[in-house]
Amino acid sequence: MTDADLGLSLPLPVPSAELEQRLAVRRSAPAQSLTAPGPSRAQVERILHLGARTPDHGKLFPWRFVVLGPTARADLAEALLPLADRQPGADKARKVLSKLTAAPVTILVVCSPVESQKVPVWEQHLSAGAVCMNIEHAAGALGFSTSWITDWYSYDREALDLMDIREGEQVAGFIHIGSLTEPPLERPRPDLAAITTWRD
Ligand SMILES: Cc1cc2nc3c(=O)[nH]c(=O)nc-3n(C[C@H](O)[C@H](O)[C@H](O)COP(=O)(O)O)c2cc1C
Repeated sequence: MTDADLGLSLPLPVPSAELEQRLAVRRSAPAQSLTAPGPSRAQVERILHLGARTPDHGKLFPWRFVVLGPTARADLAEALLPLADRQPGADKARKVLSKLTAAPVTILVVCSPVESQKVPVWEQHLSAGAVCMNIEHAAGALGFSTSWITDWYSYDREALDLMDIREGEQVAGFIHIGSLTEPPLERPRPDLAAITTWRD
């Protein structure tokens, strides 16, 4: 889709039993279990293209992506180690770094709010979250499994500096992408009747 496509009619939705079934069994992977094959560069580009097709109030596009291969993540995990030692619960802080390095490819989604009189920052954060989910769906459509992780280093100023995440920006998620060797197990799901109000 380019500027030349603006104003073109897009197809109306038609029922898709396949998409419905995929959504019915969608499940995240444990980050440590994501293994090769991961997406190729062309597949990552496709995932970003599909993922960025996300609702966003005011067309601000208040997010950016950093594609992290294994070397970049190994270097980051090493640089984070001394910071992990300063966290409350240093052992766990160190241990969760293994989630950062396991998958073949990771897309770091950074929420980068744009100055706006019209669109509250909260809505820009919501849009960044929606991008993360859309990236997960896009990766799933290409046959990959994903894990959306934040962990302590998404909230530590020094860690954010290591990732070139500026003041005012926030980590929306590290979306780890790869393949599973075992089918995922179901987890508890909400009681929809308890959280849904119907009003005529
Ligand atoms: C914003 C956000 C941050 C998350 N951060 C973590 C995390 O740091 N560590 C973790 O184990 N799971 C984290 N999760 C949870 C997993 O990504 C995943 O959603 C969950 O474990 C399984 O749910 P699912 O199978 O329905 O996707 C996070 C989820 C969201 C939405």
